[in-house]
Amino acid sequence: MQQIGIGIIGVGWVGGVRAMALADHPQVRALHVCDIRRDRLAEVAALSRAASAVEDYRDLLANPAIEAVFISTTPESTHYPICRDALLAGKHVLLEKPLAQTTAEADELIAIARKRGLKLTVGYSQRFNPRFAYVRKAIREGLIGEPVTCLVSRNVTRELGSKVTGRTRLSPAAMEATHDLDFMMWCLQPLKPIRVYSQASGKFMRRTSETLDHQWVLVTMDDGTTVNVGAGWILPLGYPNYSHTWIEVIGTEGSLTVDDSHKEVALNTVAHGIRYPMSSMPGEAVDHVFAGSMANETLHFLDACARDREVLVKPEEARLIMDIYEAADLSDERGEAVSLPRNS
Ligand SMILES: NC(=O)c1ccc[n+]([C@@H]2O[C@H](COP(=O)([O-])OP(=O)(O)OC[C@H]3O[C@@H](n4cnc5c(N)ncnc54)[C@H](O)[C@@H]3O)[C@@H](O)[C@H]2O)c1
Repeated sequence: MQQIGIGIIGVGWVGGVRAMALADHPQVRALHVCDIRRDRLAEVAALSRAASAVEDYRDLLANPAIEAVFISTTPESTHYPICRDALLAGKHVLLEKPLAQTTAEADELIAIARKRGLKLTVGYSQRFNPRFAYVRKAIREGLIGEPVTCLVSRNVTRELGSKVTGRTRLSPAAMEATHDLDFMMWCLQPLKPIRVYSQASGKFMRRTSETLDHQWVLVTMDDGTTVNVGAGWILPLGYPNYSHTWIEVIGTEGSLTVDDSHKEVALNTVAHGIRYPMSSMPGEAVDHVFAGSMANETLHFLDACARDREVLVKPEEARLIMDIYEAADLSDERGEAVSLPRNS
């Protein structure tokens, strides 16, 4: 079996999930971890039995025995410089969304990866959620005829919203709806988005900051199909990082709905009331199994690098999603629709 050396830069919540998915995997020759938070680094290094643990990511990138890296850092402004350095050091990269802060930065990362023959992919983990994968399969097999209109509405807790908005000024479209925009564009390929209209609202978070609460993004595709994606982050605390999603696809010959609200498992205790375990977007380990999409996504990237196979999420696809959420933010600001591509 082909084995490779793997590095993870940033082992907070998500990087920790990835480290545990990779620990002791037969395709991993050795796992190396990095974080600027010494206590968290020591904790994840011990749990994942990492071969090395460093605080400066440049030390990890200088290690010639590492072929591929996961970049799971926050704040999001760290993504572009660390990814650029990783690609220039000759490593394959899985970068958490967002790909970059500007489209110019994203284009540069994609160009470096292409020139050097390196894999570059973005952590759009929902593509590895079996329910989401089923929606794509059903659409592509024509089970509901031609799609006419699609809706994805996602809301996460205010606890997660506060964490995200405390470190970045990126909008709900850029930070949350980005997953579902990617998912719908992936389902509807080769259709292309031609127009975006967006409206955002903010009442709760505005009590303490300039942050928005929710954003709707209405995308028109080049055959007239409409896609409506909504994302918000002010739900009450149902569970740490609880995420609630509803998908509805209406076609010429049928409809498909998916309730991904995680209400099927409810833990009710006198101490804490009703909680919904296993309900965060990446998922969580439950003893010997992983409940969620991120472990599968992590192992897919490992396998793609070890056996030189294609990654599921192409960087150009993530770049298109940047165009859509940037158009959405502009549309909300101007109160009018924005045409895509922007420079045409
Ligand atoms: N795919 C998903 O479902 C999903 C879910 C949540 C978050 N995310 C994305 O994953 C990323 C990480 O989110 P998180 O919730 O794990 O954040 P987090 O804050 O819990 O962890 C980030 C870690 O990066 C470390 N870090 C920051 N700068 C560093 C540097 N220069 N070198 C090394 N380590 C550094 C921090 O110390 C921290 O431990 C975010 O960009 C977010 O958008 C994806």
